[in-house]
Amino acid sequence: MKKLVFFIACFAILLFANLTWKNSPAPVVTTDMPVADVLLKLGETPAPHQPDFTVEGASADRGRDIVLRGQTSHPGGGKSERVSKHFVCTSCHNVERDEPDLSKTDPLARLRFVKEKGLPFLQGSALYGIVNRRSFYNGDYEKKYGDLVHAARHDLRQAIHLCATECAQGRPLEAWEMESVLAYLWTIGLRMNDLGLSDRDLSIVNKAVEGRGIQAEAANLVKSRYLTGMPATFIDPPADRQQGATPSGNPETGKMIYELSCLHCHEHERYSFFNLDNSKLSLAFLNRHFPTYSRYSVYQVARYGTSPVPWKRAYMPHYTEEKMSVQMLEDLRAYVGEVK
Ligand code: HEC
Ligand code: HEC
Repeated sequence: MKKLVFFIACFAILLFANLTWKNSPAPVVTTDMPVADVLLKLGETPAPHQPDFTVEGASADRGRDIVLRGQTSHPGGGKSERVSKHFVCTSCHNVERDEPDLSKTDPLARLRFVKEKGLPFLQGSALYGIVNRRSFYNGDYEKKYGDLVHAARHDLRQAIHLCATECAQGRPLEAWEMESVLAYLWTIGLRMNDLGLSDRDLSIVNKAVEGRGIQAEAANLVKSRYLTGMPATFIDPPADRQQGATPSGNPETGKMIYELSCLHCHEHERYSFFNLDNSKLSLAFLNRHFPTYSRYSVYQVARYGTSPVPWKRAYMPHYTEEKMSVQMLEDLRAYVGEVK
């Protein structure tokens, strides 16, 4: 008898729980929803860089191969030709989120963030979330690429084209390759939970999506949580290279930069013939040339990069101030200078 009462009670509780669950509507906006979808629901115009799937052979899987490996299966059979013989996109860009706060750039916070996530620290901005941006090669990149930037400023296809041919020193993408890369980039767009919205903000967004609030306000709230264009400031090495820019540096930060950035490309000659490792020999070599005006000066290459010899030699992209602060470069100097 007792058992029967117990079962009836359980059944009643389950029934009740089920009913109340059904009665409270699920929120329209879930935390893993793409930010772009939510903005559409809020009446924003879709980004112009939608992939065109009518182009035969276009697919997100192929795009992923191109970005990560530089080539993929050709729609006509066999393998496609490599986009660049020197690089893949991930030589210089992460495909995972690499800024802890997407609403600003903070190179030191980014360094700590990538260290925690086991990602490299790179000169290019993350491709994660690139489809959510509306302007490309901002700020001083105009100085480097001149007119080429104008076409790319508000056009993601042109930005990819510029990078494939100029940064990666490769060939132009074919139409099916371009649409595939775009299709893949849409799979790594920002999600609502990247924005760190409070429950209150999320509920404002939810209400507006359901028609119970001002949509433009909610859209602005969402957009205030990430950058729609990455700022870029070019800076020079310190005027007095012997003395450096600041009186001292933090070698621990320098070590992180060395291992997560320099070694990403230079260890085992991965993307460069100039080999670097954690040996005394490498560090002492860099230390000796740091304050000089030679091609081996880290001040020189970090701030100006190296010049490409088209199709012959890879080049090194420079670090903007947003990607490495003045102090961080001194931190790197402190690290390589520790070994005597
Ligand atoms: C040798 C390094 C390098 C390689 C390889 C490279 N890029 Fe870039 N890319 C950069 C740098 C540096 C920038 C400068 C702007 C930034 O990312 O903040 C950039 C910018 C971009 C931008 C504009 C970003 C923005 O927010 O302004 C896009 C899009 C892009 N690259 C796509 C690609 C794709 C796709 C590939 C592979 C086909 C690729 N890149 C390969 C270094 C590289
Ligand atoms: C995205 C890849 C990449 C990153 C990251 C990178 N480099 Fe380079 N670096 C290159 C390439 C490519 C060259 C061109 C040299 C070659 O291979 O011919 C180069 C050239 C250099 C040179 C000049 C070598 C010469 O032969 O003239 C120095 C010095 C150098 N890098 C140091 C560094 C240091 C220090 C860091 C970290 C702050 C760093 N690099 C980060 C790719 C990279």
